[in-house]
Amino acid sequence: MNAQKTLPSYLEQSQQVRERFDRMKSREVILKVKSLGKTFETQKRETVALKDINFETYRREFLCIVGPSGCGKSTLIRILAGLETQTSGEVLLQGKPVRGPGRDRGMVFQGYTLFPWLTVKRNVMFGLEVNNAGRLEAETQALQWLQLIGLEKFADAYPHQLSGGMKQRVAIARALANQPRILLMDEPFGALDAQTRTRMQAHLLEIWRKIDITIVFITHDLDEAIYLADRILVLKPHPGEVQELIEVPVPRPRQMDQFISEEFLTTKARLEELIYSSEAHGEEGEEPYPMMMRLAEVGDNVE
Ligand SMILES: Nc1ncnc2c1ncn2[C@@H]1O[C@H](COP(=O)(O)OP(=O)(O)OP(=O)(O)O)[C@@H](O)[C@H]1O
Ligand SMILES: [Mg+2]
Repeated sequence: MNAQKTLPSYLEQSQQVRERFDRMKSREVILKVKSLGKTFETQKRETVALKDINFETYRREFLCIVGPSGCGKSTLIRILAGLETQTSGEVLLQGKPVRGPGRDRGMVFQGYTLFPWLTVKRNVMFGLEVNNAGRLEAETQALQWLQLIGLEKFADAYPHQLSGGMKQRVAIARALANQPRILLMDEPFGALDAQTRTRMQAHLLEIWRKIDITIVFITHDLDEAIYLADRILVLKPHPGEVQELIEVPVPRPRQMDQFISEEFLTTKARLEELIYSSEAHGEEGEEPYPMMMRLAEVGDNVE
C-alpha cells in the first residue's frame, strides 16, 4: 500500500525524455487553441461545455486528451475539426483560424464510418478523388496507404468482411490519405475488445513514427493515454477547463512491459488523482447514481 509513496514524481524526467521534449518543442506549433469556449443553447437551458481552453501542439506531437465523461472532449475535437463552431476564442492551424472542415485535418471516430457499399480500396480512394486526384493516382496512393496499415491484401474486400480492428485501420488510412497536417481521433478504439485495442495502439504508434503527422487523441482510458502520448491534456469535469498538461515521463519507444514501470505508475497515479478528485468536486457534474433498487433480500455477503 505504500508503493505509491516510493514512486518518483511524475515531473521527473530522464535525460533521454527531457531531450525528446526539447526536440519536440523546438518544432513549429501546428495547432494553437486560444481562450476557447463553447456554450450550447437549447430551448430548456444553456450548457457550458468548454470554458477558456488554452493549449498548443507541436509538429509530430502525440497529444492525448482525457477527462471525465461529459467534460466536453468530443465538443473540443469537433471544434478542432471544424464540425462545430465555438462560442468564444479561436483555433489556429499553422497560424490560420479554423473556419470549417478542411483536408488539413483527418478525423477518426469511435463508430465505423466506412462506406459499406465501397471496397476497402475505394473507401481510401474516396477522399483523394473528392480532392481531384485522378483515378489512377488515387488508386496508387490508396494501395500505398493500405500497405502502410498492413491491409493491402484486403483492398478488394468490403467493410462487412473485416473485423472491428481492421475497419478502424482502414478508417485511419482513409483519414491519412489526404495527407492532413493533423489527425483528430475521438475514442477510436473504444469499441474494440481489449486485445485488439492493444494491437491497434501499437500499430498507431508505428504509423505515427513513420510519417509527418501530429495526433490529437481523445480517450478515457488512462493506460492508453500514457502508452500513446507525449503529453496529456487533462480536462476538468463539466464545464471542461484545462486542469493540467502532463509531460509523460515514460521513454520511447513504448512497450507493453512499461505499464508496470515507475514512470508509468507515477503518471497514472497523478491522472487518477486529478480525474477522481475533480469528479468528486465537479461544479455541476452529472447526477449521482440513483440508489440501487434492492431486487431481493440477501442474507449473506458475497465478499
Ligand atoms: N449538440 C449539443 N447540444 C446540447 N448540448 C450538447 C451538445 N453536444 C454536447 N452537449 C453537452 O456538452 C457537454 C459535453 O459533451 P461532450 O460530448 O463533448 O462530452 P465528452 O467529454 O465527449 O463525453 P464522453 O466522455 O461521454 O464522450 C455535455 O454536457 C453534453 O450534454
Ligand atoms: Mg465524447
